[in-house]
Amino acid sequence: MSATKTSLYEQLTESSAAALAVKLGLFQSKSTLTCREIGDGNLNYVFHVYDKENKKGLIIKQAIPYAKVVGESWPLTIDRARIESSALIRQGEHVPHLVPAVYYSDTEMAVTVMEDLSHLRISRKGLLEGQHYPNLSVHIGEFLGKTLFYSSDYALDAKVKQQLAKQFTNPELCNITERLVFTEPFLDHETNDFEEELRPYAEKVWNNSRLKEGADELKAIFLNSAETLVHGDLHTGSIFADEHETKVIDPEFAFFGPIGFDIGQFIANLLLNALSRDGDDRQPLYDHTAAVWDTFVKTFSEAWEKDCLPSRRHLLEDTLKNAFEEAVGFAGCELIRRTIGLAHVADLDEITPFDKRIERKKLALDIGAYYIENRKKLKHITEVLDQFKLRVKE
Ligand SMILES: Nc1ncnc2c1ncn2[C@@H]1O[C@H](COP(=O)(O)OP(=O)(O)OP(=O)(O)O)[C@@H](O)[C@H]1O
Ligand SMILES: [Mg+2]
Repeated sequence: MSATKTSLYEQLTESSAAALAVKLGLFQSKSTLTCREIGDGNLNYVFHVYDKENKKGLIIKQAIPYAKVVGESWPLTIDRARIESSALIRQGEHVPHLVPAVYYSDTEMAVTVMEDLSHLRISRKGLLEGQHYPNLSVHIGEFLGKTLFYSSDYALDAKVKQQLAKQFTNPELCNITERLVFTEPFLDHETNDFEEELRPYAEKVWNNSRLKEGADELKAIFLNSAETLVHGDLHTGSIFADEHETKVIDPEFAFFGPIGFDIGQFIANLLLNALSRDGDDRQPLYDHTAAVWDTFVKTFSEAWEKDCLPSRRHLLEDTLKNAFEEAVGFAGCELIRRTIGLAHVADLDEITPFDKRIERKKLALDIGAYYIENRKKLKHITEVLDQFKLRVKE
């Protein structure tokens, strides 16, 4: 008789999530605990377990075998939970102050038990309410500089890096990015989602062959350039913050990709927030955009100085130049896909009145296209900002 492997996966409920926290010895008894499913994302369940007596909480995140937002008709590997907890642990080795601590993870159950960050706010929400988060860009610049350097060929022996890259092979989630960021927004595809008033501008994107070639080149870089472990979904909705602290969450899209990818996505999301604002209220976002690039360069260069393998030391300038050019292109793709693609952002969708929203979305498409087409011409972050300001006048 052949043995069949039975799956140990079981979907948690609020009650079994609390029981798991007790079983793991993270709380004394279930009697003082409350547990609520608080996930507002598209993909997973997020349980907040809280001990009223000791005022201590933790988070249990569980991947389910399909995308929560679509339902069982869109199956999605639960291996993303293993990727997420492994990425958090690896990032925690280099920037422990910028990611939640992981207390426990279980690949079979697709569970990550982590630090409760409920005292902070998701930065997209705060930025939309006009918060400044003075440390946001310096912290994210440091996160990028250290995480991107310490998993690259410049810091790791080639064999070690190859083994690590194997551990972070993430084909299903990379395929989502490939489709939603680099392919479908550039075609008249059924997954695209936009107001009818934007159709002529979407068509302008679809009919611009230079722009489409640029997006294809960037897609090829995304697919083929396994430079380092990237977060893979670094938008302002994946960042908790307050005035002092910043924590990056949700690296379930992590994989070995190009250095510029996270940088470009973060910058685009700052600029999407700038598009939701008027006049001088945009200045903090411009300051953040410049500061995140400058801090990335400083942190990455310091790490390079200290820990770069001797045979690769001379490559710093070229590496940064390449990362900048690619980041500008990836920022362009993010601006376009968040405007006409499947997954939108509140920064654009909540602009009122309607005519203003359409105007700002047109600008997002225009600026995104400019960045993709001209990424090799732009040499400095101030030029990237100047091109944005040139188009966004009101
Ligand atoms: N460590 C944490 N502490 C407190 N709240 C958290 C924590 N992690 C997640 N959350 C809450 O759960 C929400 C969803 O989390 P997360 O973005 O990780 O889930 P997701 O299912 O991967 O979402 P997405 O569709 O954005 O990928 C967050 O916006 C936040 O409100
Ligand atoms: Mg997620």
